[in-house]
Amino acid sequence: MQRTLAIIKPDAVGNHCAGAIIKRIEESGLKICALRMVTLTQQGAEGFYAVHKDKPFFSALTAFMSSGPAVVLALEGENAIRRWRDLMGATNPDEAEAGTLRKEFGASIDRNATHGSDAEDTAAYELNYFFCGVELLR
Ligand code: RTP
Ligand code: MG
Repeated sequence: MQRTLAIIKPDAVGNHCAGAIIKRIEESGLKICALRMVTLTQQGAEGFYAVHKDKPFFSALTAFMSSGPAVVLALEGENAIRRWRDLMGATNPDEAEAGTLRKEFGASIDRNATHGSDAEDTAAYELNYFFCGVELLR
């Protein structure tokens, strides 16, 4: 069993697509362990994406991620990190395969509807960023 952190980003929440994305998560067989709506501050987004702090897109990314409410979820299942990333599709919706969430709900690489952890260590950091231990009990 593995856990991963998923985010329904502000573009998708603003477009009223959060429910449709949650439905797709449930249909995929991934278990939702915890779920919350949160509006990040700029500083909160910068801490979350600290790994990208030297990238040219960092300030646009953190401004977007703090531009409105997002939904954060802890997902669990066998191979959950890989399975959630496969369900999301490629970072750039233009390159994402048909049937993936970013293809369906993303508008551009900067507004790509969802986030997913990319490895076990980043998943641990990201889950801990949004959820405390008691929220992840099951
Ligand atoms: P995420 O972290 O949001 O799940 O996305 P990812 O792993 O697929 O992609 P990552 O490389 O971690 O990039 C984080 C977010 O930054 C934006 N980005 N823009 N303009 C660009 O070249 C560029 N590259 C990345 C995307 O919004 C991406 O989701
Ligand atoms: Mg990433």
